Amino acid sequence: MAKDTITKTLTVAALLCIVCSVLVSTAAVKLKPLQERNKALSTKKNILQAAGLMEEGKDIDQLFSKIQLKIVDLASGEFDDNINAEKYNQRVAVKDPARSIQIPGDQDVAKIKRRALKAPVFLVREGGKLQTIILPIHGKGLWSTMYAFLALEGDANTVKGYTFYDHGETPGLGGEVDNTLWKQQWVGKKIFDKDWNLAVEILKGKVNRQKPEAIHQADGLSGATLTTVGVNNLMHYWLSENGFGKFLARIRNQGGGNG
Ligand SMILES: Cc1cc2nc3c(=O)[nH]c(=O)nc-3n(C[C@H](O)[C@H](O)[C@H](O)COP(=O)(O)O)c2cc1C
Repeated sequence: MAKDTITKTLTVAALLCIVCSVLVSTAAVKLKPLQERNKALSTKKNILQAAGLMEEGKDIDQLFSKIQLKIVDLASGEFDDNINAEKYNQRVAVKDPARSIQIPGDQDVAKIKRRALKAPVFLVREGGKLQTIILPIHGKGLWSTMYAFLALEGDANTVKGYTFYDHGETPGLGGEVDNTLWKQQWVGKKIFDKDWNLAVEILKGKVNRQKPEAIHQADGLSGATLTTVGVNNLMHYWLSENGFGKFLARIRNQGGGNG
């Protein structure tokens, strides 16, 4: 009987396809928990980096145990303890009309269209005193939605650290939001002026460090003005009354956001 028949060739090809698809789907299912665990660890690492608490070689979960996760109701600025903070996913909530709002066009400077009603915040306390507030913020750059963690000191004003952990801007241009030197310039900058008006601003070009307003200003990224404008806009959205403004005001007024 002939070995090289069309039926045999097709049978071998079909069997090979079945075996390969079983292998690929088994690997995908088996590796999913590992992938999710790595994603969670990466998020924790970024939060620790923003807060200045990352120590290479140390156990991330152990370092993260210093950080308290809370959910904030953005409209009131109050903590919402009725939500399971560990399970809350802001990116899922924003797609649910019952748990999110459409942002009016004139307020949507971050160009995100909708925002979840509640947002997670990460707090570090020492001796009962609030030391660090880490806020998740996001908004459109040139090509992508950029996601960042902005860490403020307990005064709810002074920047402690900044990390962009998810974006699709061009490496070497807008992707320089990840550049350590660029991020480092933020440390010590003040978001609000003495009357608590939003004063933070990213310039096109370099900041004149002799000027008093330099305390609120950061250098733009050269060759990436459009990404820089996006970063400026997303900060203006999330630090305003429409974002974390009420929460930050409450921290200032109550001296440490107890709860
Ligand atoms: C392939 C390509 C990728 C670019 N990627 C970015 C980017 O990620 N972010 C950005 O702001 N500009 C990017 N630009 C440049 C913008 O089109 C624009 O020229 C620039 O933002 C202007 O910034 P400047 O005024 O600082 O030169 C890119 C341009 C090209 C051709």
